[in-house]
Amino acid sequence: MSPQEAYSQLLDKFKEISIISSCGAVLGWDERTYMPRGGAKFRAEQLGYLAGLMHSKVTDSLIGSLIDQVQQSDMLKDSNSIESANVREIKYYYDKQTKLPQKLVEDLTRETSLAQGVWEVARSKNDFGSFLPSLEKVIDLTIQKAEALGYEGEPYNALLDEYEPGTTVAEVEKVFEELRIDLVELLKKIKNAPNQPDESIIERAYDVELQRIFGESVAAAIGYDFKYGRLDVTTHPFCTGIGPGDTRITTRYNPNRLNDSLFGIMHEAGHGLYEMGLEKEKYYGSPMGEATSLGIHESQSRMWENQVGRSLAFWKYFYPQAQRIFKGTLDDVTVEQFYGAINTVKPSYIRVEADEATYNLHILLRFELERAIVKKELKPADIPGEWNSRFEKYFGIKVDKDTNGCLQDVHWSAGLMGYFPTYTLGNLYSAQFFNKAKEDIPNLSDQFASGDFMTLRKWLAENIHVHGQRYRAVDLGKKVTGESLSHKPLIAYMTKKFGDIYGF
Ligand code: CO
Repeated sequence: MSPQEAYSQLLDKFKEISIISSCGAVLGWDERTYMPRGGAKFRAEQLGYLAGLMHSKVTDSLIGSLIDQVQQSDMLKDSNSIESANVREIKYYYDKQTKLPQKLVEDLTRETSLAQGVWEVARSKNDFGSFLPSLEKVIDLTIQKAEALGYEGEPYNALLDEYEPGTTVAEVEKVFEELRIDLVELLKKIKNAPNQPDESIIERAYDVELQRIFGESVAAAIGYDFKYGRLDVTTHPFCTGIGPGDTRITTRYNPNRLNDSLFGIMHEAGHGLYEMGLEKEKYYGSPMGEATSLGIHESQSRMWENQVGRSLAFWKYFYPQAQRIFKGTLDDVTVEQFYGAINTVKPSYIRVEADEATYNLHILLRFELERAIVKKELKPADIPGEWNSRFEKYFGIKVDKDTNGCLQDVHWSAGLMGYFPTYTLGNLYSAQFFNKAKEDIPNLSDQFASGDFMTLRKWLAENIHVHGQRYRAVDLGKKVTGESLSHKPLIAYMTKKFGDIYGF
């Protein structure tokens, strides 16, 4: 077999795996949107079966020998070529998957599918005790997974690498620590500042159906194309790229708070734009057709949510529409007052509803707890106590119930430990990317003020989306911005923005 034939067979195999994975994505989307609760057990069986099937396909020794054949040829002599990127990432995936016993993969998939249903009920009843047995099982399996994958330093490295390939705990810890120091200072300035916005503006009555209509129109304006996507309601908002031409987002509505669904929809639409911007028609089923890391994914969602959606320029265009749609609700409010209200910085319990500034403290808390859990220094049963005491230390408020504390996020029930740091990485990358975009497109905020978001969308597609997994996150960041990952651009952006709003 020629190296070209081996390469194309390898891509065929990988495409087959991607198709199986996409079937799991449809089932996962349905599980979190429309599936009746009674279907949970069978759905877990379906997902467990697919995960096992995928695992057996990817660990087939034929894949290993195809990789060898291509690597031994001179096909990959240009290490920056598309072929090199595809083979590098397929091999990375293959090497990892072959370390995981099939039974562990199936057990994890089944248990996490079941645990998500248990978590949902426990969260709604504020009953950590009923979730604990499932959580213990999932954590035990997750630790087994880290051990099977292997790691340098601490086991958390193996888990982080699943979501942010090539990034280590030590790197993350360094930049997070620098961020924490400046963030605490910034929060102090905000707290003591003379101009405190009136948050009650966004806590008026906002009809849920009108929120949906407005949210959909905002998503469409930034380029989320409903021909290739849809918006549904869920407990924990997410975006799922099912395949070429099908990228779905979800949200949840609060009739007495505008921010949650509005910025939630912009956030998920930002993820959606990355999925839609990948060259799936050309590269679907190969690493070139997939997002490079969750941190980069999150940089896209956070940019649309924050740098765009929470900017004054954006509201110069959208505010008159909001006033019209929410008939009468905002008649007495100026656009500047509204802009202040949506940007209120205040310690709060729920991460996904947090303002831009306190958001990262939520992540730092989870990052510390997860590392301790995976090292077995923190027992699952002790999570609520540890969560609550650290939360009070960081945020200065007491957690009133676990639904507002350790039960709020879906991640641990889904076995997603090592995932949280990617949110703050996304915030850091988003500030760096946005600086570069503003440099390349000097009148960007004028464009926003006139309702034009397509130049930014195109810039993101050309600079980030089309590359798929050609570059790892850290390298892509450097390639686009010329700079290494740093906390400084995010802090500078927030200091300027909140300084203007709060008057310091
Ligand atoms: Co996100």
